Amino acid sequence: MGVVADAEHATITGRRGASGSPDVRFLIDEECTLAADASTLKIVGGTPLRGEVTVRGAKNLVPKAMVAALLGSTPSRLRNVPDVLDVDVVSSLLELHRVSIDRTDGEVTMDPGSVTSAEPSRLNVLAGSSRIPILMCGPLLHRLGKAFIPDLGGCRIGDRPIDFHLDALRQMGATVDKEPEGLYLSAPEGGLRGTKIELNFPSVGATEQVLLSAVLANGITELRNAAVEPEIMDLISVLQKMGALITVHSNRVLRIEGVDKLYGYDHTAIPDRLEAASWACAALATKGDITVLGAEQPSMLTFLNVFRKVGGQFEVNDGGDGKPRSIRFWHPGGALSAMALETDVAPGFQTDWQQPLVVALSQADGLSIVHETVYENRLGFTDALNKMGAHIQVYRECLGGSTCRFNQSGYLHSAVISGPAKLHGAELVIPDLRGGFSYLIAALAAEGESTVHGLELIYRGYEGFSAKLRGLGANFTAA
Ligand code: EPU
Repeated sequence: MGVVADAEHATITGRRGASGSPDVRFLIDEECTLAADASTLKIVGGTPLRGEVTVRGAKNLVPKAMVAALLGSTPSRLRNVPDVLDVDVVSSLLELHRVSIDRTDGEVTMDPGSVTSAEPSRLNVLAGSSRIPILMCGPLLHRLGKAFIPDLGGCRIGDRPIDFHLDALRQMGATVDKEPEGLYLSAPEGGLRGTKIELNFPSVGATEQVLLSAVLANGITELRNAAVEPEIMDLISVLQKMGALITVHSNRVLRIEGVDKLYGYDHTAIPDRLEAASWACAALATKGDITVLGAEQPSMLTFLNVFRKVGGQFEVNDGGDGKPRSIRFWHPGGALSAMALETDVAPGFQTDWQQPLVVALSQADGLSIVHETVYENRLGFTDALNKMGAHIQVYRECLGGSTCRFNQSGYLHSAVISGPAKLHGAELVIPDLRGGFSYLIAALAAEGESTVHGLELIYRGYEGFSAKLRGLGANFTAA
């Protein structure tokens, strides 16, 4: 499967963009078989999922590390690369800028030796497909002095503005012109300048933007209120391998000393802790037992605490016995416990863990509270769960203890989940990546048949999804 960068050679235009908008189309090459990646599944629930799945590199690191390759003067090699749509999109973006890409199973090499600007009309083929293009700003400004960024896509889980990104770039001296077709940026004479930047919220993307822009800037950049997600730390490792000078201070402060030149890297991406947690929740909700090969404990500490409090059991294999690292997650039988939790930036409970966990909480005994503090609009998926028999009420107020920035803003960002609820099959349309996974878990836990549409969004972030599901004994057919 691959997104064809060159519209003239595209053969199939059957897959919708990640935004879900019907007019945003991915161009898929002829090897893409819809049989392997069906858009609609009929699922018969009630079978506990049991077996093993493998997670590879983190979806929220790999595309960013690929963008970082643009900063090097020599080729880079990234390992543990999953075959997901976001990687296709970034490969296409880089190829359109004449980075030579060689992609084999699980590995990508990128040679940025002949980087040139790409035509906006050709880049716009990828408009609406992903949020990654915005991260090309810094590297392109360093390499070419200018950049064109098409409209972004990504899951519709809130407004998802890019004001922090653009403010930071402007502070570093860039000019930004917003046009209907996208953003045009230019570097100041002499290149981007280091400066002091403070984010209003520890945004993952804006932190990555500053890192990718500051490593080759003139002078020192101090970033306050930075995100410190494990994927950011892994991106810092990549940049350090390339020759960057980045110091991580306490209290979310990053200090980046600009250097004159960076080189290619050889790096193995950290495993996808978000996918690992999704399968853990699938084990819990279906009363199953799933071993996630490749999963690692350190980046999942907060999730594992919550999993244990709800009543799930897990066993970590840290690779000491020579076997691959893994975590086995299972439902031990008996009742699950309700709990109150709120999502947060790392090291807190990640917002991407929230949606799959809510399905498991619908099976817990009593009232659970979930307070979503990262995105204002990430509880819409609960409507469909209610249609399946769950009892979930959403509120505008901050419930569960603390007050977040969405208090009094009118957004339905707290949920009260009353369980255990008997779920039944329903017809569902996937709204976003993690919400979609939660629908699938619900369908697998429910009594009867469900029809789930819009699997394209799942393939954006879950590698080999149907095959993994099949391997776990799920009962489903492509419709
Ligand atoms: N925000 C702003 N202005 C900005 C940037 C962000 O107000 O300029 C706000 C957002 O609206 C949001 C909050 O800050 O309310 C956090 O957004 P952040 O920038 O951290 O998110 P992101 O970088 O766009 C990444 C992941 C998301 C993940 C979040 C939070 C990628 C490609 N996406 O998004 O992953 O939820 O960080 O950890 O890395 C997913 O995997 O399903 C997913 C959505």
